[in-house]
Amino acid sequence: HGTMKVNSKNHLEIGGCDAVRLAKKFGTPLYVIDEDLVRQTCKRYYDSFMKKNNGLVLYASKAFMNMAMVRLIDEEGLGLDVVSGGEIYTAVQAGFPMNKVYFNGNNKSPEELVFALKSGVGRIIVDNFYELEILNHIAGTLGKKADILIRITPGIEAHTHEYIMTGQLDSKFGFNVPDGQAMKAIDMAIKMPNLNLKGIHCHIGSQIFDMQSYKHEVEITTSFIRQIKDETGYEAEELDLGGGFGVYYTEEDDPATIEDYADMVFSTLNKMVNKLDIKMPKVIVEPGRSIIANAGITLYTVGAIKEIPGIRKYISVDGGMTDNPRLALYGAKYEAVIANKVFEKNSEVVSIAGKCCESGDMLIWDICLPHIVPGDIIAVLSTGAYNYSMASNYNRLTKPAVVLVKDGRADIIVKRETYEDLVRNDVIPARLSKNSY
Ligand code: LLP
Repeated sequence: HGTMKVNSKNHLEIGGCDAVRLAKKFGTPLYVIDEDLVRQTCKRYYDSFMKKNNGLVLYASKAFMNMAMVRLIDEEGLGLDVVSGGEIYTAVQAGFPMNKVYFNGNNKSPEELVFALKSGVGRIIVDNFYELEILNHIAGTLGKKADILIRITPGIEAHTHEYIMTGQLDSKFGFNVPDGQAMKAIDMAIKMPNLNLKGIHCHIGSQIFDMQSYKHEVEITTSFIRQIKDETGYEAEELDLGGGFGVYYTEEDDPATIEDYADMVFSTLNKMVNKLDIKMPKVIVEPGRSIIANAGITLYTVGAIKEIPGIRKYISVDGGMTDNPRLALYGAKYEAVIANKVFEKNSEVVSIAGKCCESGDMLIWDICLPHIVPGDIIAVLSTGAYNYSMASNYNRLTKPAVVLVKDGRADIIVKRETYEDLVRNDVIPARLSKNSY
């Protein structure tokens, strides 16, 4: 992917930087982000959804967020989808234009809503009746009118390779359409004095490969827009289709292109707008994974190796589920290479384990790699999304550093945590202090 290649030393290179040297210089585990690939992917989204079709692309920050990433997204002209006060704060600190920030979430606290309105976020995507009431109240108290979208749950479920027409109604997110809750919410929103309804929002899932799912999503949401028009006279101006575009992790994954995705959305939309006789809404999409997953790799140093003859060889590395919980959580699959000897004649099947105190702490089961010895540097690929952002301090491991690479330069964008960081917020009550007896 991107700028990744193998150099003359048979080392992995990314962003013009030798991965083995990165590991030496910054230590491991280390997240490495390929700036050129992030920018290229943003441009493809920008061109196909914004330039060509007047839509808006919001990067779903939850996939990977820090101040440098926010700057990159701003430079590439995209907006941000945020889901917490912390994500709003990060955007504010990085000087992001807050009118291009959309606030999602099924349980935004009153404090978060106040913060969102005060910092001038562009849209609040209202998820439930409780939020509708408190947001109207809070906006009134602040003397503001909140621009909102109503999140609907249409009753389609996008799977990796299929979708189901009904079902998915049993979800904690959004107002369900089939039972009339969504229509009721729209009606209430129109009448609330401190809310300004801009349109509807829908998100059908993540890691979606089947473009038919998006076709269906557009058909169902536009039909609902028509139904709203018939029942209330209100015509939605904006249609937010959420995120979920799938990416390549291993040979099992066969993603479409971003351009195919845009074509499917806009060709379906054009047909539906004509058929239903509604105004062309402004389309918003919220890709997270597809902007950052392939641009990231994680470097680890190999330590202990345990061979169980005839059964398995465990290669333990200096990170694990703390920096990448996706195998433990979802059974996710990854590819990897040995950064200090990418191509070698002798290969063997091994399993890569983390260093946490539990057996589920694995990064990859059964992968064919060159013969590995302690000290080798393993690069796990496509770890840009939902790794750093889901990292934890389990077992009191410190979170890795993140470096941004481009044209042979490597810049730290998140410092490695230290032991001091781990105890920074710990407080020992006086009665427990060492000198209290
Ligand atoms: N918009 C909404 C409302 C979402 O809930 C999500 C993801 C996105 C956009 C971005 O979806 P993406 O383009 O990244 O697929 N931790 C899981 C993924 C959870 C996704 C949650 N919502 C994982 O590691 O696979």
